[in-house]
Amino acid sequence: MSGTPNTKMVTPPSAYKIVNIPEPYADVIQRHGVDGKFVNSQESPWVPFGENAAIRHLAFDVRNNIASNILWIKSGGVIGTHRHRGTIVMVCLEGSARYLEYDWVAGPGDLIYETPGLTHTLVSDHPEGVKLFGWLQGAIEFFDENANFLETVDVWWYINHYESYCCEHGIPINPQMYL
Ligand SMILES: [Fe+2]
Repeated sequence: MSGTPNTKMVTPPSAYKIVNIPEPYADVIQRHGVDGKFVNSQESPWVPFGENAAIRHLAFDVRNNIASNILWIKSGGVIGTHRHRGTIVMVCLEGSARYLEYDWVAGPGDLIYETPGLTHTLVSDHPEGVKLFGWLQGAIEFFDENANFLETVDVWWYINHYESYCCEHGIPINPQMYL
């Protein structure tokens, strides 16, 4: 490493107040900016995903084919072999998970980063399963144990999964989830 490190901000600012900062493009942002979102996860139902898992949907971005959710494998179990066509980020919240193809085990706080072309089989050996927060871009293709293609899971699949469950159970659709 060479050069002088920038040590201007050793600690983040700590003023407990709203500060109005200068913004040269305030008018453009006003006209074209997109609102941020807040999603109360407790208001989003656990939607069954197979017999031993459920998905709590958090967000859908149809412009970028991105969905965000918490995947819950309820006890030791498998989410079948799949191939990624996009990049996903997951953080383990509770329990543990691993892939049959790799030698690591993800526990609470651990990050999982997956890229286009990866093919693998997710399992949890933990007696209480695993909860994984995910930010999932692109399509995921699922295959059966004989390598036959089953289904493509992408943002449209996730929206349909969420909305059809809400419809069947009289749960209002949360517009905040649509980015
Ligand atoms: Fe994966």
